[in-house]
Amino acid sequence: MITLGEGNTPLLRAPRLSERFGVELWLKWEAANPTGSFKDRGMAVAVTHAVEEGAHTLVCASTGNTAASCAAYAARAGLRAVIVVAAGAAAGPKLLQVRAVGGEVVEVEGTFSDAFSHAEELGLQEGHVLVNSTNPDRIEGQKTAALEIVEQLGGAPDVLTLPYGGGGNTKAYARGFGERGTLPRLHPVQAAERATTVASAIRIVEPVHRAELEQAVADSGGAVHTVDDDAMVEARRLLGREEGLFCEPASAAGIAALPESAGAGERVVCVITGHGLKDPA
Ligand code: F0G
Repeated sequence: MITLGEGNTPLLRAPRLSERFGVELWLKWEAANPTGSFKDRGMAVAVTHAVEEGAHTLVCASTGNTAASCAAYAARAGLRAVIVVAAGAAAGPKLLQVRAVGGEVVEVEGTFSDAFSHAEELGLQEGHVLVNSTNPDRIEGQKTAALEIVEQLGGAPDVLTLPYGGGGNTKAYARGFGERGTLPRLHPVQAAERATTVASAIRIVEPVHRAELEQAVADSGGAVHTVDDDAMVEARRLLGREEGLFCEPASAAGIAALPESAGAGERVVCVITGHGLKDPA
């Protein structure tokens, strides 16, 4: 088992924001994972499996957090990590995390989709394993966050809200809650300006899991929401000032859409996906 102690993150009551939004708000603080984001849950499973298969190199395309996680777990497992990013698109501290643990960064001109195509190609080579969220082991690992929430709250909340980039994490929560037979309304939140948003973590124009995400959201009675950059930045500020948590801009998306996603008095879990130190600019 290749582990860095991921998971078992705090579920924190948010008294001031609860009062402000008229709901019972809880925050799943995923920045408490070893590399500072939820990606570590799925990476532990994917890398453990890759080792079983005899891989020598892990490959991923990333906006930065998958990159930092992949490189860390590769180092732990004694494997090589090749990280493909769209040139200039990933936040500097995330690439610093990659290099600090010996990961190799390959920059391609273009968008995240171009980086993903390149990574898929590299992943086909002998001994290479692609560890993007299209790798089913990633989703299996990430679903543990939903299992933890059910344990921590004694059941599912009314509403789960979280940022929506490629959609893998929403799919993972739907699976985790589904396996416990208790699905909250799912309210994933995307950036209005997908191609250019300041929330670089979710700067993805074509979400790879869109069809399954939309199905899961519909099954749950929830909805996909869209917020602009100003709303995300303001939500990040609120979370810091009122609850003492410093998250990256993308991670505040769920807070930004609270007025549309939750009714008065509902129990809401908002997933805070990554640490503020990762994207301070
Ligand atoms: N929040 C953060 C901090 C992220 O890094 C990501 C995705 C998401 C939310 C969205 O999750 O894609 O499963 O819907 N980051 C990926 C990466 C794309 O490469 O680190 P999703």
